Amino acid sequence: METFAEKKTNLDPAGIRRRDFIHIAPVSFAAVGLAASAIPLVDSMNPSADVLAVAVIEVDLSSIEPGQRITVSWRNQPIFIVRRTANDITRARADDANPALIDPASDSSRVLQTEWLIMIGVCTHLGCIPLGQKEGDMQGKYGGWFCPCHGSLYDASGRVRRGPAPRNLDIPPYVFLSGTQIRIG
Ligand code: FES
Repeated sequence: METFAEKKTNLDPAGIRRRDFIHIAPVSFAAVGLAASAIPLVDSMNPSADVLAVAVIEVDLSSIEPGQRITVSWRNQPIFIVRRTANDITRARADDANPALIDPASDSSRVLQTEWLIMIGVCTHLGCIPLGQKEGDMQGKYGGWFCPCHGSLYDASGRVRRGPAPRNLDIPPYVFLSGTQIRIG
């Protein structure tokens, strides 16, 4: 099982760019929830089954096409999942050494697999949900996400390019269970 710290394979997509956006529900939660509910409540300090059930989610990525952005919910937070095209990746990596980055980070440090960008969709300023996941959303001049609350801009790697947001969009803990299945949490 590959961890975020361990990384990574190169799966540059060959698909053409398509800006379709869908929302899908995470799957394969039942096992976590059922296992938790089967354990007697011997310790009142343990988290409830409901909490455990949403603490870890698995998402099937197989239906997401190159260029699509989808959103799932994890711990009551939106998780942005992007299947990037070759152009998306090229654009993101072109700015790796840009001295103007507010929170410098290479694109490769923010992904486990080059094709997939997976982030917590919460602005690092005051917690609004940036626009950019839905078709027709404003994405800003860096091709990423735009926070309408105070105007922060994020690029195609989720790096903040204009504040007041102080840092890049956060990366949740996740692993790839297979080429098209991830576990978040
Ligand atoms: Fe996003 Fe303020 S909450 S810019």
